[in-house]
Amino acid sequence: MKIIKTKNMEELGQKAADWVIEKINEKPDLMMALPTGNTPTLMYQKLVEANKAGKADFSKVKVFNLDEYYGLSSEHPQSFYQYLFKNFYSKINLNKENIEYLHGDTDDPGAEAQRYHNEIQKAGGFDLVILGIGENGHIAFNEPGSSFESKTRLVDLAPETVKRDSSLGIPILPERALTVGISEILSSKEILLLAGKEKKEIIEKAIKNPVTEKIPASVLQKHQNVTVIIEE
Ligand code: PGA
Repeated sequence: MKIIKTKNMEELGQKAADWVIEKINEKPDLMMALPTGNTPTLMYQKLVEANKAGKADFSKVKVFNLDEYYGLSSEHPQSFYQYLFKNFYSKINLNKENIEYLHGDTDDPGAEAQRYHNEIQKAGGFDLVILGIGENGHIAFNEPGSSFESKTRLVDLAPETVKRDSSLGIPILPERALTVGISEILSSKEILLLAGKEKKEIIEKAIKNPVTEKIPASVLQKHQNVTVIIEE
């Protein structure tokens, strides 16, 4: 596991963006899974700037959203789809056909999860998964207790996740979500984990303590190619 320490979130965003650009330059049709949240916002901003400056070409890149609140359509302003669309997809030269996302408003979450799993396989699996981390150690919406064998599925959010998201001003409080599973994350060729300084304690546990389903991010210790960019 490679750890890159940064002084502040600005530097974290820049380092993460530079890292991603390097990967796209190596493989222009990079297939990547992307997170939502406060942590990656500056990375997206820097990637948009690089795209506008002609330093990053997304024309062949394929993106998969990592998760979505169950019950919210992609049109809903609080959906993760909207976050990624507004902050990133709408501002870069991404082919809109290369965006895959979980339909949170599905009537059949089992079928939707299976469809997403199949799409991931059809596209050849992830080259790169970018993750944030929850204060309880969740990755995407794989909450503590999630099986390391898990695939895309409907999950109950942990009470602390619901509480935290509600403090961010999300008016409807979805208590369930569709999320890419841990086995699909682990099958990625490479993983980038981003964490601000408020996540210091959980990051320490995830990378130094024994691997346990109680701390989903600890499973990353089993992966051969993980980079962590953290704010000190
Ligand atoms: P955050 O969320 O980036 O908003 O802190 C991360 C997460 O809960 O996965």
